Amino acid sequence: MADAGPIFDAYSADPAVANFLIWRPNRTRRDIESYIRACLDTPKHRARTYVLQGRKDSVIRGGMDLRQADRHRLEFGYVLSRRFWGQGLMTEALTEIVRWGLEQPAIFRIGAVCDVENVASARVMEKSGLLLEGLLRRYLIHPGMGKEPRDCLSYARVR
Ligand SMILES: CC(C)(COP(=O)(O)OP(=O)(O)OC[C@H]1O[C@@H](n2cnc3c(N)ncnc32)[C@H](O)[C@@H]1OP(=O)(O)O)[C@@H](O)C(=O)NCCC(=O)NCCS
Repeated sequence: MADAGPIFDAYSADPAVANFLIWRPNRTRRDIESYIRACLDTPKHRARTYVLQGRKDSVIRGGMDLRQADRHRLEFGYVLSRRFWGQGLMTEALTEIVRWGLEQPAIFRIGAVCDVENVASARVMEKSGLLLEGLLRRYLIHPGMGKEPRDCLSYARVR
C-alpha cells in the first residue's frame, strides 16, 4: 500500500498510459489504493501484481501482473510510466518473465492480447519472443479508445 502514492504520481493517473488499457486513468489516490487492496486480496496462486523499480534508484517505473489463467498457462499485462518509454525496459522485463514462466514445470503457454493499434505493446511482445497468433475481433473495451469493443492481437509463446 505504501506504493500507492508513487504509482499514482508515476503512471496510474496518466490518460496517455491508459489509452489502450481496460481501466480508466485514476482520478484520486483512493482509486489506486482500491486496486492495490484487490491485488493483495487475490490468492497468490491465481495472480500476482508487481511494481517495476529501477535497480539503482528504486524509483517505481511501472507495473506488471501475471495470472495463472489455467493450470498450464499464464497471462500477463504491463504498464510503464511515460517518462521511461522507449528505453527497452518492458522488453527486458517481459523477456525474463517469459523465460521464467516457461521454465515452470506446469506451464506450457504464456501470452497476452493488445489493442490492434497498440504498436509499442505488440513490438514489446515480438521482441520478447512471442508469436502473433491472430486477430480477435471486437474483443476488449478500451475506454480510452471509445465505448465499443476493440479488435485485439493475440500473442503467445509455448513450449
Ligand atoms: C507498451 C509499453 C509497456 C512499452 O514499453 P517500453 O519499455 O517503452 O517498450 P520498449 O522500449 O521495450 O519497446 C518499444 C518498441 O515499440 C516501438 N514503438 C513504440 N511506439 C511506436 C509507434 N508508435 N510506432 C511504431 N513503433 C513504436 C519502439 O520503437 C520499440 O521498438 P524497437 O526497439 O524495435 O525500436 C509502454 O509503451 C506503455 O506502458 N504503454 C502504455 C500501457 C500499455 O499500453 N500497456 C500494454 C497493454 S497491452
